[in-house]
Amino acid sequence: MLRFVGVYKSYSHPGYALQNINFSVQKGDFVFITGPSGAGKTTIIKLITREETPSQGRIFFGNTDISRISRRKIYQYRRKLGIVFQEFRLIPYLTVYENVALPLIVQGKKKRETESRVQQLLKEFEIIHKYRELPSSLSGGEQQRVAIARAVAAAPELLLADEPTGNLDPFLSRKIMKLFKKLNLKGTTVIVATHDISLVEEFGERIIYLSYGKIKKIV
Ligand SMILES: Nc1ncnc2c1ncn2[C@@H]1O[C@H](COP(=O)(O)OP(=O)(O)O)[C@@H](O)[C@H]1O
Ligand SMILES: [Mg+2]
Repeated sequence: MLRFVGVYKSYSHPGYALQNINFSVQKGDFVFITGPSGAGKTTIIKLITREETPSQGRIFFGNTDISRISRRKIYQYRRKLGIVFQEFRLIPYLTVYENVALPLIVQGKKKRETESRVQQLLKEFEIIHKYRELPSSLSGGEQQRVAIARAVAAAPELLLADEPTGNLDPFLSRKIMKLFKKLNLKGTTVIVATHDISLVEEFGERIIYLSYGKIKKIV
C-alpha cells in the first residue's frame, strides 16, 4: 500500500531531518512510528500526506509515486486518508458537530446518514455534550477527540495519526488505541506516530524506531 524508497528530507537549514528511510506498509497493517522528539516522526507523516516532498527518494502509494502527482491528484489522493494532525487543525468557525460531519458531506453522504454517523462518533469519543461548541471553547484533550472523530468519520483507507494521545489521560489514550485497533480489524490501515513508548509496548505489533532521522530498527 505504501512504500518509502531511499527517502531523504532536509528542510531549509543544512543537515537531514530524515536519511535513507526505507519501509513498506501492507494493507491492513497497524504500524507505530516511534522515537524521541525531533527524530523525524512528523516529517514522515507529512511526507505521506504530501504536505512535504522528499529531497531525495520516492514514496509510493500503491503504484503511484506521490511526490510526482499533480495538485488535482493530490486532493483525490488525500480523500483516501484520515489524518489526525499533531496540532488538531479543526476548522475554527465550525462547531464540533460540523467539523466531524464535513468529510461525510464532502463524500456526498445523505443528511440522515451523516447525522447518525456523527452522533455515534461523538458518543464514542465522549464529546457529544459539546456538539454545538466551537473548537476554541474546548480543552486540548477535547479538541483531540474531535480531530480523531473527524479523521475516522469517512472510513479512510489509511488512517494517519500524529501523537494522537498527546493531550489525553492514560485511560482515554488506551481507549483511543483500542478504537484504532477495532477500525484496523475492520480493514483500515493505521499508522500512528508517537513518542509514548508505553503505548507502543502495549499495542505495537509492527514498530519503526527512529533516531536522529534514521531508522534504528523495524520489528
Ligand atoms: N518546517 C520545518 N522547518 C525546518 N526544520 C524542521 C521543520 N519541521 C521539522 N524540522 C526539523 O526536522 C527534524 C525532525 O522533526 P519532526 O519530524 O517534527 O520530529 P518529531 O515529530 O519526531 O518530533 C527536527 O530537527 C526539526 O527541528
Ligand atoms: Mg512530531
